[in-house]
Amino acid sequence: MMRGMADDIVRVAQLSDTHFLTDADDAEGGFAYDTAAAFEAVLADLDGGEALDLVCVTGDIADHGRAPQYARAAEAFARLPAPVNVCPGNHDQQLAFGAGMGRPGVGTSRVIETGVWCFLFVDSNAGVMTVGDDGLVRDPDDYGDRLHRNGALGSAEAAWIRAMHDATTAEHVFVWLHHPPDPPAPLSHDADYAAEWAALMPDLPKVRGFGGGHTHVPDDYSFAGVPAFVSPAFKNNFDLEAGTLLPPGYRRYEFATDGTISSETRLVGEDTWPRHPLGRSVMALLRAEITYAEFDEIVARRRAAPD
Ligand SMILES: [Fe+2]
Repeated sequence: MMRGMADDIVRVAQLSDTHFLTDADDAEGGFAYDTAAAFEAVLADLDGGEALDLVCVTGDIADHGRAPQYARAAEAFARLPAPVNVCPGNHDQQLAFGAGMGRPGVGTSRVIETGVWCFLFVDSNAGVMTVGDDGLVRDPDDYGDRLHRNGALGSAEAAWIRAMHDATTAEHVFVWLHHPPDPPAPLSHDADYAAEWAALMPDLPKVRGFGGGHTHVPDDYSFAGVPAFVSPAFKNNFDLEAGTLLPPGYRRYEFATDGTISSETRLVGEDTWPRHPLGRSVMALLRAEITYAEFDEIVARRRAAPD
């Protein structure tokens, strides 16, 4: 029996966008946090908190989807204080993710039922994957902008969500996924992806909410009448209103038997990762006023001719 079942509340921690690197990898010119150090800070906070039934990790596990990065992530996740289940993000590579994440206590299950709740782990990259002649689902050959890509369900994933929602005998369904539907963060707006979820929701009356990541902007908002929660990342986090960086962090959730959900953001290591003001060009990127290509040009120009 899961630990939280004593009072029928299901307690979950959500980690997201852990972006694990190996020591040999370059962490984006110093703009990214040391994600291994961020993991240790989160682990210490988890160990000091209430007992958990499950830890969900919602994608961008490995910074570049490489096998050694998954090995490091899986070793770290095996130290978490509850069973762990992960789903992929746009930085994850389909086959390396599948081969690299599972080990005792760390899984890639797509459905977990606990008490009156059913957790669905949706692959919000499914709509951009290709099916080979051998029937195997792979990353597309041309995945050039994958590091910045927003979500896509595609017809097969949408059909799977409907089927699982209808098949479960649980009263309440919660969706864990990398790309939250229609988040407030401007850079992650994607009308096509939002429309996919909007079309699905009338068929999913048991869905009580969403837990996602991707934006690196911790948030909660409402989508189609249910709450959507966005977890902090480990790699770098942004406060768009204050115009600053935020420390790394995670979320805690309590799932009640009546279908209600409470959730709080936990940021860790304020001294290690201070809330530095963001530069004008970073803010312009995060507000979607310039593209990634334009942002990269500005950075390259500055490197070539520093003031
Ligand atoms: Fe990410």
